[in-house]
Amino acid sequence: MTTRTAPLGQPDLAPTPGRPFGIYIHVPFCATRCGYCDFNTYTPSELGGANPEGWLEALRVELRLAAERVGALAVQTVFVGGGTPSLLGGDGLSAVLDAVRDNFVLATGAEVTTEANPESTSPELFAALRNAGYTRISLGMQSVAPHVLAVLNRTHSPGRAPAAVAEAKAAGFEHVNLDLIYGTPGESDDDLLRSVDAAVHAGVDHVSGYALVVEDGTALARRVRRGEIAAPDDDVLAHRYELLDAQLSAAGFAWYEVSNWSRPGGECLHNLGYWDGGEWWGAGPGAHGFLNATRWWNAKHPNAYAQTLAEGALPIADFEVLDAADRHTEDVMLRLRLRRGLALDDLAADERARVPEIVAEGLLDTAGERVVLTDRGRLLADGVVRALLA
Ligand SMILES: C[S@@+](CC[C@H](N)C(=O)[O-])C[C@H]1O[C@@H](n2cnc3c(N)ncnc32)[C@H](O)[C@@H]1O
Ligand code: SF4
Repeated sequence: MTTRTAPLGQPDLAPTPGRPFGIYIHVPFCATRCGYCDFNTYTPSELGGANPEGWLEALRVELRLAAERVGALAVQTVFVGGGTPSLLGGDGLSAVLDAVRDNFVLATGAEVTTEANPESTSPELFAALRNAGYTRISLGMQSVAPHVLAVLNRTHSPGRAPAAVAEAKAAGFEHVNLDLIYGTPGESDDDLLRSVDAAVHAGVDHVSGYALVVEDGTALARRVRRGEIAAPDDDVLAHRYELLDAQLSAAGFAWYEVSNWSRPGGECLHNLGYWDGGEWWGAGPGAHGFLNATRWWNAKHPNAYAQTLAEGALPIADFEVLDAADRHTEDVMLRLRLRRGLALDDLAADERARVPEIVAEGLLDTAGERVVLTDRGRLLADGVVRALLA
């Protein structure tokens, strides 16, 4: 990886003509921290005086500076993530979208998603979001089993996420996602099946299913180290993935990325951009952006972020420029996770030569001129990528 560390704000952030372009906006606030989460988010006691008003003011400046760099480019997708965007309320999230529109042109039919935590949503919030122009809601449900929610430190009741989906749909949202986590210590097969069933019956058109990752430095990692709870077991995780996939498939969902399933037309276009050659500006504390082979990331703490923008500069902490080999490695890693797979032509000759052996192991299929993960290959996607790139 070619990494240049340069004075702040120096990378050449010009988009590649013709590529899909999106904007990611990071909301770095949570009411409490879930023990498994290492995202860049802050509870009130960690904010050091930062607050949503100051964050919004800084975000407006960042989006103005971004538009000056990017020029008149139609925005196809906006994704407001966190942290807990729903803590901003209807007015706050409307102001976020206004700040995008003040500086960019949204393409006709643009997908505009916000994440939301079930406990900080209401019919009024969803009505305000719909009115503001949001088109998609992504809710963190994780599970319907009370003991699983407790291990994960989730503060919502088991029924709150399905109820929030009903409220979002009543407000006119056609596209709603639920995030599930599987493999939490204490979860049974039946707990997962009941969670998937609740998600399907809630009427969503998209489900993300993530294996619980014990991230270094989290409260969960400390509990595992102390022996209070067992780390998720790889065989159990693989079995739960198969259960999740089978139940979603039976209900009419199809996987389109290893951890994502949708009904027809329910795919998340913003996330597809990350996996399939799109470019994006990442705004907000700690957000990553990617334009024309340059990846950059912002200062992480909301105070450092806001201070640099108050001085009129982009709050870029560092950046790296990917050379052609880096780009190729990333393309293979990301595209192979998609159901549409990779064109054989996009592989180098030595990589193509490795395909037959991986097919013989039952991990890849060659469909037409493309390579696609098999069901078993999906369980071992990282290993398949390593074997292909060798
Ligand atoms: C970072 S959260 C932001 C959205 C929102 N705050 C929430 O919790 O629902 C996005 C999703 O990432 C997933 N996630 C976060 N940390 C994870 C971990 N350590 N292992 C598996 N999934 C994780 C959860 O499913 C969560 O819904
Ligand atoms: S999982 Fe979501 S709610 Fe929990 S700490 Fe992370 S960002 Fe906040």
